[in-house]
Amino acid sequence: MIVVTGVPGTGKTAVARLLSKRLSLALIEVNSLVRKKKLHTGRENGSLVVDMKKLATELRGFDGIVEGHVLCELKLPATAVVLRTSPRALKRRLAPRRYSRQKLSDNVEAEALDYCAINAKQNYKKMIQVNTTGLTARQSTAKVIHYLKTRQSDSVDWSSYFLE
Ligand SMILES: Nc1ncnc2c1ncn2[C@@H]1O[C@H](COP(=O)(O)OP(=O)(O)OP(=O)(O)O)[C@@H](O)[C@H]1O
Ligand SMILES: [Mg+2]
Repeated sequence: MIVVTGVPGTGKTAVARLLSKRLSLALIEVNSLVRKKKLHTGRENGSLVVDMKKLATELRGFDGIVEGHVLCELKLPATAVVLRTSPRALKRRLAPRRYSRQKLSDNVEAEALDYCAINAKQNYKKMIQVNTTGLTARQSTAKVIHYLKTRQSDSVDWSSYFLE
């Protein structure tokens, strides 16, 4: 199993779709699965709150790619690919979504604080980070494939975001 995770807007859905084609692997998009199978406990700020136990049960034994931001908080027998995007670039990518100021800064700050990477490192045996800043979804996908093959990972440090 390959898990593609990262803060909202880092390109998980776009990259995972291309990855599933390029590697001929089945794909589960957690957002769609949660809606389809009602794996939620309620709503918070307009987003569904995922029932993590139910999600883990649904994913048990799956062989393929799974993408979703909540996956960084789940323990699965998979390699985790954490997509990273510089906070400034992420802000630009999220702009068309018309999030509230609060929701936008929550997401951008989660990225600046390595939220997904820290969680994925704890929850997965193998975790790689792929910096997609300045790349297209296609280029990011090629980079993910290359990193998986060659066991590479990027290290990023977005801490200066808080000083700007
Ligand atoms: N380098 C890149 N890699 C992936 N997507 C990119 C990249 N640059 C721009 N994008 C664009 O960023 C937007 C957000 O991507 P996407 O919807 O895949 O994010 P996501 O991580 O799945 O977000 P969410 O968690 O909200 O589902 C898309 O329009 C996508 O095409
Ligand atoms: Mg998505």
